[in-house]
Amino acid sequence: METITDIRQMQQWADATRSRGQRIGFVPTMGYLHAGHLNLVRAARSHSDAVVASIFVNPLQFGTNEDLERYPRDVRRDTAMLLDVGTDVLFLPEAAGVYPPGFQTTVTVERVTRGLCGAARPTHFAGVTTIVAKLFHMVKPHVAVFGCKDFQQLVAIRTMVTDLNLDIEIVGAPIVREADGLAMSSRNAYLSATERQAARSLSKALAAAQALVEHGEVDGLRILAAARRVIADESLARLEYATLADPDTLEEVDAVRRPTLLALAAHFGRTRLIDNCILSRESTARTGWRKSPDSQLSTAN
Ligand code: PAF
Repeated sequence: METITDIRQMQQWADATRSRGQRIGFVPTMGYLHAGHLNLVRAARSHSDAVVASIFVNPLQFGTNEDLERYPRDVRRDTAMLLDVGTDVLFLPEAAGVYPPGFQTTVTVERVTRGLCGAARPTHFAGVTTIVAKLFHMVKPHVAVFGCKDFQQLVAIRTMVTDLNLDIEIVGAPIVREADGLAMSSRNAYLSATERQAARSLSKALAAAQALVEHGEVDGLRILAAARRVIADESLARLEYATLADPDTLEEVDAVRRPTLLALAAHFGRTRLIDNCILSRESTARTGWRKSPDSQLSTAN
């Protein structure tokens, strides 16, 4: 595995790879990798000839009182994991090159970033789409893979790619869960033992909602009430939102008559976690929803 830190060198590698007729697959990350990230690399590999993974903790997507300083970092461990899973290039751009003095250009996706997490994190998605657009120009991928756990991020990036006519295929990869259902996240490392137990309430809430839908419930208020109850029963959990939305537009809906996104955000102590699933009248095992057959309640093995 080659490690590249220089942006110009990354672009030259991409040009040379493309000129050999090879497809470049790309997995952007902020590091502190887990099994979910490794699945993204495997997915990228299945769509390409050469896989680039980047690690860059992007200051632009953190709000002023968020966890930029304490965001977990371990590049040595990440490097070993990426090598092990067959990554071709680890791209570690330096902040000074990514955001040079005088930097003043951002990419903003409007409507799909307003609700859900965007309500509490109004600058977050512009930070994400700006860095992803920049990384796309550095790595020049044919295909890029993002996890469905950050469902709103995935929709924002798809929208950006469509709106800006970027010639890049965007693939959404399944949520990977711990054995007890907790969605894998670099931020799980912040949780104390009791918060870690409490955090299981997120996937339990999704499962409770899905069970109601499978029994024929369509009323959004009742479905949300069931999910909220599971989280309210957990004294260490503070729910930020539980929302039903159209998975394409992210507009809120009040009934589940077709595959529908249920998205949750909750705080466990100082740690904010998100989770989601696509609710469908068919059981999750049989759901084959178009853009995210993947965002289901499967667990890691
Ligand atoms: O999902 C993430 O890790 C980040 O938001 C991303 C896409 C790497 C952009 O910094």
